[in-house]
Amino acid sequence: MTRKIAVSGSASGIGRALAGLLREQGDQVIGIDLKDADVCADLGTRDGRALAVESVLRLAGGALDGVVACAGVAGGTPLTVRVNYFGVVALLEGLRPVLAAAPAPRAAVVCSIAGGIQPVDPDVVAACLEGDEDAAVALAERAIERGAGALLYPSSKSALARWLRRVAVTPGWAGTGISLNAIAPGIVLTPMTAPLFADEAMRAVMATAVPMPLNGHARPEAIGEALRWLISPANTHMAGQVVYVDGGAEATVRGPDVY
Ligand code: NAI
Repeated sequence: MTRKIAVSGSASGIGRALAGLLREQGDQVIGIDLKDADVCADLGTRDGRALAVESVLRLAGGALDGVVACAGVAGGTPLTVRVNYFGVVALLEGLRPVLAAAPAPRAAVVCSIAGGIQPVDPDVVAACLEGDEDAAVALAERAIERGAGALLYPSSKSALARWLRRVAVTPGWAGTGISLNAIAPGIVLTPMTAPLFADEAMRAVMATAVPMPLNGHARPEAIGEALRWLISPANTHMAGQVVYVDGGAEATVRGPDVY
C-alpha cells in the first residue's frame, strides 16, 4: 500500500536523501522546502507554516501516514530558533490530527549531536518550550549582543529534543498510535556543512568537538536510512527517543554513564 509521507527540507541534504529512499520504496512523498519542492513555504514564519500544513493536507487528500521534519538552518541567528524549533513544532502539531487517523502513523525530526553535547542558552530553551516565539527571538538577539550567538543552534536542537520527549508519550501522540522520535546526526556531508569543510581550521575544530570513530563523517543517506526505519510500520514501539547516528561521537564525548 502506498504511504503518504511529508518531508520538510526535501530539496537538499538529509531531507533530499530521505525523499529519494522513500520514493524508491514506492511511498508518495510530499516535499516541503523554500523552493524546488511540492510545497514551497517558509517554515521560519507563522504564515509559511500555516501554508505548509494546509498545502500538505490538500496534496495528501486529507490522509497522511508520516511526517519527517528535516528542514533546518545552521548559524547563530534568531532564524535558527525560528526554523529549527518553531518551524518543526508547528509543522508536526499542524499535521498531528490527520496523522492520528492513519493505520500506522509515524513522525520523526532531525535533532543534532550539538543539542546533546554543546552548551546552550537555558533562557532560549525555556522560551521555546513555553511556545513563546517572540520571547525566544528577543533572547536570541540578546545572546548575539553579548557574543553568545554560537549557543543558538545547540539551543534550538536541545529545545526540540526536550519538546519531543515531553509530548511523544502523551495521549495526543503515543495515545493515538503515533510513534514520534528523533535522529541526532553527528557531522553529515551536505550543503549545510560544505563551507565548514572548506576551512582547514574548522576541520580541526570539528574533528576534536565531534569525534566519529565509526566510519567518519556520514553521507546524508546514512541519516535517511535511519529516518526511513523510524517512520516505517515496523517501528511499533519507539517513542520519545533521540537516537544518535553519529559515528560514535555522543558515546565518545559523554562516556559510558549517560545512556
Ligand atoms: P541542508 O542545508 O542540505 O538542507 C536543509 C534544507 O532545509 C534546505 O533544502 C533548505 O532550503 C531547507 N530550509 C531551510 N530553511 C527553511 C525554511 N525556513 N523553510 C523551509 N525549508 C527550509 O542541510 P542538512 O545538512 O541536510 O540538514 C538537515 C537537518 O539536519 C537540519 O535540521 C540540520 O540542522 C540537521 N543536522 C545536520 C547536520 C549536518 O552535519 N549536516 C548535523 C546535525 C543535524
